[in-house]
Amino acid sequence: LGTMSVKNDELHIGGVSCLDLAKSYQTPLYVFDEQLLRQNCRDYVNYFKVNERKNRVAYAGKAFLPLYMCQLIKEEGLYLDVVSGGELYTAHKAEFPMERVLFHGNNKTIDEIQMGLDLGVGRFVVDNYYELDLLEAFCKQRGRKQAIYLRITPGIEAHTHDYIKTGQIDSKFGFTLTNGDLYECLSVFSRYEHLELVGLHAHIGSQIFDVEPFLDEVDIMMNLVKELDEKYQIKIREVDLGGGVGVYYTENDHPKTIEQFCEAILSKVDSSCQRLGIEVPTLVIEPGRSIVANAGSTLYTVGSTKDIKDIRTYVSVDGGMTDNIRPSLYQARYECAIVNKMRSGDQKQVTIAGKCCESGDILITDVDILGIASGDILIIASTGAYGYSMSSNYNKIPKAPVVFVHDEKCRLVCRRQTLEELLALEVL
Ligand code: LLP
Repeated sequence: LGTMSVKNDELHIGGVSCLDLAKSYQTPLYVFDEQLLRQNCRDYVNYFKVNERKNRVAYAGKAFLPLYMCQLIKEEGLYLDVVSGGELYTAHKAEFPMERVLFHGNNKTIDEIQMGLDLGVGRFVVDNYYELDLLEAFCKQRGRKQAIYLRITPGIEAHTHDYIKTGQIDSKFGFTLTNGDLYECLSVFSRYEHLELVGLHAHIGSQIFDVEPFLDEVDIMMNLVKELDEKYQIKIREVDLGGGVGVYYTENDHPKTIEQFCEAILSKVDSSCQRLGIEVPTLVIEPGRSIVANAGSTLYTVGSTKDIKDIRTYVSVDGGMTDNIRPSLYQARYECAIVNKMRSGDQKQVTIAGKCCESGDILITDVDILGIASGDILIIASTGAYGYSMSSNYNKIPKAPVVFVHDEKCRLVCRRQTLEELLALEVL
């Protein structure tokens, strides 16, 4: 995967030994393969035809958004999707160009809306009437117009975990196509004098392997573009298809490549627009996971083990649900290896447990691995998306650091939280 390589039975990433990384930065530690990450960005830019067709790739910051990540995606020519004042502030501090920011969220607070306007984000992705009314009022006060997208709930069932489905009708997000609220909104849209409706947005869910739900989404969106023009004389110039492209975590996953996905979507857009006799709009896509998941891994040190005769062997590591909530929250599966024992040999089935006081704090249930012992450094692969960004301080465990490796060089991107910082918000 990426720049991972084995030298003398030892795993290296970006030319740097994982053992050396664990020694220098301690564990748990998130390690990112910068070359693979940049390659994923470039594949999107290339295959989504950012330069040729003026399409846009907006990285979904919720997957992983330290300051350095903002800089990197700026350098790679991507847009950025943010969902909170915190993500917006990060983009601002990283000097990310605000006109390339899309501001999402189904319940943006008044402060967040004001902040978005103050900083000048390019597009508000408006989710509901409440937000439309607030935004109109604030823009009126400021005597300016704001470009917006409307978020549509297209009514598509994508096959993924229930918690990360979003396109189905029963969803908290967006204006629902089937119960009339979208059409009500459009029929009175002219009263929003300070809002310019330039685009439509939908997001059908996350970790989706099939391309078909995305193609259905394209059809629904393009039909809407035509309908808006014919019925309401609203010209939609931009169509944002959201994120959701699935990635490899284990051998049960068979994802398409970024190239296959983009080509399927673009050719569907062309045929759909041709059939409807409409101009092809500027397209936006919002990948998060498929840019960062495979580029990130987590290193842990193995500590205690517990053998329950004929039942199970628990191997505990020095992290867990605080640095990766996905196994506990979504029953997500991962692959692992021991970085100092990258050879073939007799494997044993074990369960990798975290150190939190929760029986559910299991990172990998029943995995076959080469004789594992205390002091070994374990790597869990593909933790780059929704790992650090969903990490917590449960059990008052400090957040683990993030290091980027590239061409035998390391760059510390987030340092480890100190015990003092853990208490920084507390008042006696
Ligand atoms: N755009 C919108 C509006 C979204 O809601 C999301 C993800 C994305 C883009 C990016 O989707 P991606 O390309 O990363 O699939 N915490 C969950 C995933 C939640 C996704 C939420 N929205 C997980 O760890 O699987």
